[in-house]
Amino acid sequence: MILSGKAKLAGVLGWPVGHSRSPRLHGFWLEHYGIDGAYLPLPVRPERFKAAVRALADLGFRGANVTVPHKLAAHELADSLTGRAEAIGAVNTLVFEDGRIRGDNTDGIGFYENLRTAAPRWPPSDGPAVVLGAGGAARAVLVALRDAGVPEIRLLNRTRPTAERLAAELGGGIRALDWERRPEALAEACLLVNTTSLGMTGQPALELDLAALPREAAVCDLVYAPLTTPLLAAAEARGNPTVDGLGMLLHQAVPGFAAWFGVEPQVTPALRAFVLAPG
Ligand code: ATR
Repeated sequence: MILSGKAKLAGVLGWPVGHSRSPRLHGFWLEHYGIDGAYLPLPVRPERFKAAVRALADLGFRGANVTVPHKLAAHELADSLTGRAEAIGAVNTLVFEDGRIRGDNTDGIGFYENLRTAAPRWPPSDGPAVVLGAGGAARAVLVALRDAGVPEIRLLNRTRPTAERLAAELGGGIRALDWERRPEALAEACLLVNTTSLGMTGQPALELDLAALPREAAVCDLVYAPLTTPLLAAAEARGNPTVDGLGMLLHQAVPGFAAWFGVEPQVTPALRAFVLAPG
């Protein structure tokens, strides 16, 4: 890759950041669309985060993605927030424009675009959605489903008070239920989403009897290592449409790339294969 003096620059701020797939993902699009630009891994310690963001803006960067552990600090630092970043309470995308820093959160839209693409008959019914987990990822999913007009969302978390607080804060038909009641919660559901780390390589599997889940309900796992989690394998075996977590990662990157590099990129099978390949 040879850059001109006018190259457009962006990157991902995290600590650590070496595991991030974002440089590979944006690098694929930059090359594919023949853009004079670069997207860099930017390891930044938490205590240096704000100074680093200001330095990037001073250096003429177009913006940056923000990952663990900086998403809340980015929310505090932004001069303005998109409605979805405000609702989610965290920022994963910064856009530098006219000396100001705009904070966005594209995790929810990435989740929803991936769901619509991977489960073409979505929504299969007007039944409730079931969301497992009440952490940062769950917030993005809940806001996306609420804003898409899903009338009822059943939220189940190991620590129930966390789910209750989140349901009260976000409103819009979100109801907290007991974690132990997850088999019954699946009755009449149109969607099941796992936002916990259960099922991830090295973590325990998510134990869940899917018997009550309607066969047309989409089953989505935000975990993408492994790509086919035990939950997705069980759902596939009984004929439910499944949606894996890699798609969300790819779709959440679209708005940032479009804002920084001026091209609305496509999520394609070739991109998926490239991001999955080691390297
Ligand atoms: P993320 O940003 O990925 O959502 P997080 O904010 O740390 O990560 O949230 C992790 C979620 O996974 C939480 O809902 C957590 O439940 P608690 O609130 O009870 O901690 C859930 N989780 C993690 N390990 C779990 C386990 N072994 N069993 C059930 N839920 C688990």
